[in-house]
Amino acid sequence: MEYHIEEMISKEKIEARVCELAKQINEDYEGKELHLVIILKGSMFFACELSKRITVPVTMDFISVSSYGDGMVSAGDITVKKELDEDITGKEVLIVEDIVDSGRTLYHLKKLLLARSPKSLRIVTLLDKPERRMSDVQTDYCGFEIPDKFVVGYGLDYAQRYRNLSYIGVVIQD
Ligand code: IMP
Ligand code: MG
Repeated sequence: MEYHIEEMISKEKIEARVCELAKQINEDYEGKELHLVIILKGSMFFACELSKRITVPVTMDFISVSSYGDGMVSAGDITVKKELDEDITGKEVLIVEDIVDSGRTLYHLKKLLLARSPKSLRIVTLLDKPERRMSDVQTDYCGFEIPDKFVVGYGLDYAQRYRNLSYIGVVIQD
């Protein structure tokens, strides 16, 4: 497939929005300790930029789940490829996601994590494609709602490429 990438959200816009999200999170978790559950690999850039701006005490752990292969169509269920290192029981957990598409990943992940009795469980996502939602999952903090387009950059990949772009771009078929 011949394609090119067009900028959808600039580096500056992302930075400004990440600051706003951090501010909101700092207010909501004031006096509390926050435990970030970062979903690899796509959320890593967002998690770095967001966590640098969080002022309440914060700890981090990583989980890797798969719902996508190397293509652009979502698979049915999720598989845990890398488990969390730490127990989340009694913690104020905030899942950090790059993008919510069908919602299946977060639906299953939320169920899995809730069974481990965290004190609270919320979700922050950089991007949301609400038109594509198939599973009933709500996010607590969202950077940008975007149309139903396949995007790359800022951690997001197409066949493992383009994660390192500093902006969000759309993959356009030529
Ligand atoms: P969901 O389970 O369908 O909500 O899919 C969520 C996961 O699919 C995200 O965490 C991404 O890793 C991946 N994904 C969904 N849409 C895109 C996209 O437009 N670009 C890159 N990855 C995507
Ligand atoms: Mg992801």
